[in-house]
Amino acid sequence: MKRHFTKGMSLGIVAIVFIVGLLWAAAIPADKAEEIAKYVANMIIAGRGVVASHQSLINDPSKGDKGFTPEYVEKKMKERFKEITGKSVEELDPEARAVVEQVLEAAKMSVKMNQARINQKGKGFKMYIPAVFGRETGQILKSRSDIVIKQTTFKYRNSYNQPDEFEKKVLTMFSKPDWPKGKGYGEKIGSIYRYLQPIYIKKPCLKCHGEPAGELDIAGRKKEGYKLGDLRGAISVMFPVK
Ligand code: HEC
Repeated sequence: MKRHFTKGMSLGIVAIVFIVGLLWAAAIPADKAEEIAKYVANMIIAGRGVVASHQSLINDPSKGDKGFTPEYVEKKMKERFKEITGKSVEELDPEARAVVEQVLEAAKMSVKMNQARINQKGKGFKMYIPAVFGRETGQILKSRSDIVIKQTTFKYRNSYNQPDEFEKKVLTMFSKPDWPKGKGYGEKIGSIYRYLQPIYIKKPCLKCHGEPAGELDIAGRKKEGYKLGDLRGAISVMFPVK
């Protein structure tokens, strides 16, 4: 009995060492971390943009099948990603491409999960908005990999997006008037690389996040009272590096 226990334990240790080894091998090289984190943030921004620009289609009560399929969204996200970064996914370095493709896979899973909601006939506003798409993509990715994506902000509506200490520090930096608009910030903390990319209030955001603060938006949530151009928050990315 005792012998079996010991054997089981040592097998367990071998398995742990093996798994840790695999994770280590999959880790992103530190010298490419900033570049890859920016690609990840921009892929989420691309996806948010695709969901935003299809709101009238998604919320059209007269249409059943919208054709807003995972494959369609992937194609549109790749196009937008190229517009933003100047690079297609296919021309990225293998390390960057592997990570960005994981983000795309997670995004497609969110779109797939929501097909029934999106294709529901007779219903207008469906709450499949950029923030929901972005949160779900981050949550799916987190469950499948060691990459974490959050859309964080001081005035969060969903507790998943609540800023931690590092995010609070960087959001405070972004909110200083002399911080160059649009500039991100990254830092390696131990074996983790963390990066935040600021996002700002644009015209279409105002109907839900604008003034007057406290008034209910179309989703039945309280508006925050932001003005055009205000810092809304950031796309926060973190992953282990080697
Ligand atoms: C139709 C209303 C609506 C519009 C338009 C809208 N949002 Fe939101 N936003 C929401 C809701 C609802 C949530 C919470 C979603 C959730 O549960 O994850 C949210 C959450 C967010 C979050 C995550 C932080 C949090 O509060 O939990 C960010 C960042 C965000 N919105 C930015 C924007 C930006 C930038 C725009 C314009 C490009 C925009 N939103 C447009 C309704 C909206």
